[in-house]
Amino acid sequence: MDKFVIRGGNPLVGTIRVSGAKNAALPAMAAAILTDEPVILENIPDVRDIETERKLLVSMGAEVELGYGRAHHRTTISCRSLINPEAAYEVVKTMRASTLVLGPLVARMKRARVSMPGGCAIGARPIDLHIKGLEKLGVTITQEHGYIEASAERLRGGHIIFDKITVTGTEDLMMAATLAEGETVMENCAREPEVSDLAGLLNKMGACITGAGTAKIRIQGVSTLHGARHRIIPDRIEAGTFVIAAALTGGDLIVSNCEPTHLGALLEKLQKCGVKIASNGESVRVVAPASLRAADISTEEYPGFPTDMQAQYMALATQAEGSSVITENIFENRFMHAQELARMGANIRVEGSRALVRGKTPLSGAAVQCSDLRASASLVIAALVAEGETILDRVYHIDRGYERIEEKLRGVGAQIRRIGEILPKKAAAPVGVA
Ligand code: EPZ
Repeated sequence: MDKFVIRGGNPLVGTIRVSGAKNAALPAMAAAILTDEPVILENIPDVRDIETERKLLVSMGAEVELGYGRAHHRTTISCRSLINPEAAYEVVKTMRASTLVLGPLVARMKRARVSMPGGCAIGARPIDLHIKGLEKLGVTITQEHGYIEASAERLRGGHIIFDKITVTGTEDLMMAATLAEGETVMENCAREPEVSDLAGLLNKMGACITGAGTAKIRIQGVSTLHGARHRIIPDRIEAGTFVIAAALTGGDLIVSNCEPTHLGALLEKLQKCGVKIASNGESVRVVAPASLRAADISTEEYPGFPTDMQAQYMALATQAEGSSVITENIFENRFMHAQELARMGANIRVEGSRALVRGKTPLSGAAVQCSDLRASASLVIAALVAEGETILDRVYHIDRGYERIEEKLRGVGAQIRRIGEILPKKAAAPVGVA
C-alpha cells in the first residue's frame, strides 16, 4: 500500500489547478445508462472512484472509453447494449456511490439488482430514501441476500418529499423520473452544485427538469433520451482543501480552474479566521495571515458549511489562536481524523457530534493512518505544517477523490512524496550558471 512522506514547514506559494468534481462525474456517468446513444463527459478527474465506476458500467455491458491526455480528461460512455442490470457487492462495497445506477437502470432496463451498500467509515449511510422514492414512482422493490431487486414495466410520475436531504438520493430519483410517465415533483431536495450539474446534463440529453439547485424539482417524463456532450464542474471540495492548506502553511496561493461561488460558506468562515481571500471568475487567491483566529463551524447541507470540508477545517483549527467548536450534523461518525491529529499534538475533545479544538498547538510529524477520503486530506494538511516528517499510510483513500495530490502540492512548494514514486531527476545546473 502506498504511503506519503511529508516534511512540514513550507508555505504553499504559486498556482494550483483544480480537477473536475468526482461527485458530479459519478452521477453523470450513471446518467449515460438512460440512453442508447454515446454520452461524452469532459473534465473528468483522474481518481480511483472514476475507475471503479468505469468497471461497474463495463460489467453491465457498457462501452466506456476513458482518456486522461494532457489536452483532455474525457470519457465516452455508450450503453447501447446493456445486458446485465446489476451492481455487485464486490463493487458497491468499495464505493457506495455505485447505488447511483439504481434509478437509471430500473428506468431504462425495467429492472435492477444492486447490492445494499453497507456502512462505511463515516456512518451507516442507508439508502432507504432512494428506495421510498422509487416506490413512489411505481417501482416494486424487494430486498434479499443483501441485494435490492427493483422492477417496473414503466415508471410513473409521483410526488416525493424527502424525509432528509440526500444528495445522491436527489440525483438517483431525478434520473429515474426523466423516463417516467407524467410529472414528478420532488421536495426537500439537495441543492448541491453537483445536483444542478447533473440536471444540466440530463436536459442536454432531452430531459425536462426545472428547479434543480432549489429544494423543489419538477421533472416532466419523456419517452427516450439522446446522447450529449457535457463538461463536469470543478471540484469544490478539492479547491477548498487547497484553500485551507494555503491558509495553514502561511502561503500565498492561487487556486485556479475552480468555481468560487461554490465555496461561499467556507471562504466566509476563513475570512473570519483572518485569511485574505480574493475571488475572480474561476480562481481564488488565498493569503495567509500571521496568525489565525479561532471560529466555530456547524456542517449543513449546501449552501451551508460542507461536511466534506469539516476534517480539513479541524486541521486548520488546531493552528488557530483560541478554541473552535466543530459540530458535525450530517454524518454520525465523521471525527476519525481527530485522534490522528491528536497524535501529532493537537488538543481535541470529541463529545458526540461536537469536537472542541483548542489552538494553537504545535504539531509534530508522526506515522498516521488514513481512514476515509476527507480525514486523509485533513492529515495531509496537518503534515504540511507539522515540525519534522509525517508518514501517511493507506493513501489509497486519498487517491479515491484527489487527482495526484502529491504532484499538485509539490508544484507549489510542499515537501511531499509517494513512497516508491520515481521522483523526476533534478536537472543538472548548466555549466557557468551562478
Ligand atoms: C454525498 O453522499 C457525497 N457523495 C458525500 O461525499 C457527501 O459527504 C454527502 O453527499 C453529503 O454532502 C457523493 O456525492 C458521491 P447523503 P450521499 O445521502 O449522497 C442520510 C466525499 O467525501 N441518508 O446526502 O451518500 C445519510 O445517512 C463523500 O466525497 C439517509 O438517512 O450523502 C446522511 O446522514 C463522502 N437515507 C444524510 O442523509 C438515505 O436514503 C446525508 O446523506 C440517504 C441518506
